[in-house]
Amino acid sequence: MELYLDTANIEHIKEVAALGFISGVTTNPSLLAKEDPKIDIKKRILEIHQLVGGHLSVEVNSLDTNGMLKEADEIISWFPEATIKIPMIPAGLAATKELYKKDIPTNVTLIFSPTQALAAANAGATYVSVFMGRLDDIAVDSYAVLNEIGEIWEKQCLDSSIIAASIRHPLHIIQAAKAGADISTVPYKVLMQSLQHPLTDKGVDAFVADYQKMMSMKK
Ligand code: E4P
Repeated sequence: MELYLDTANIEHIKEVAALGFISGVTTNPSLLAKEDPKIDIKKRILEIHQLVGGHLSVEVNSLDTNGMLKEADEIISWFPEATIKIPMIPAGLAATKELYKKDIPTNVTLIFSPTQALAAANAGATYVSVFMGRLDDIAVDSYAVLNEIGEIWEKQCLDSSIIAASIRHPLHIIQAAKAGADISTVPYKVLMQSLQHPLTDKGVDAFVADYQKMMSMKK
């Protein structure tokens, strides 16, 4: 399972991209607005693209198919490798199908059920983004939903890659991997938290102390 960073924050992207273990970034209008409501979206997206180089999902804001397709054209004109993020609404499915015909990658977002995931896959979505945290928020077991989608994907041999999104804690990353998600897109704080273990810190401290002891004896 690949790991993407779910943010529009340049400092966080710079720091994590330099570590070499993420292969993409997902953004959405709320993440961009969180950085600065007056943000120059094109400039920020191109900055992110330059830093990471891999997958970059950019979301459309229109709610009608033609508007979505126009926005997709504009995003593609910024950089041709863009993945167009489209909301899981009927108009979004039609836009996904049109982009599929043109060989433009899409990430159908705001998916909360296996039937939504199936519809997106049938429309030709390259990625289907299943929101874990927001399901848990309404007392629906996101792990069970993702497992069901994973099982369907395996039985039906579907091509769309599954992205586990709305990740709130490291356990979600583990559950996403166990459920067969291809990608987990993770906020900076959770991603950094997932790298930590107290026994690693304790072990590093002990190795450093013993090395320093050896060095001091050589003096
Ligand atoms: C990613 O593609 C989604 O936009 C994101 O994970 C949403 O996360 P949230 O539910 O924490 O806003």
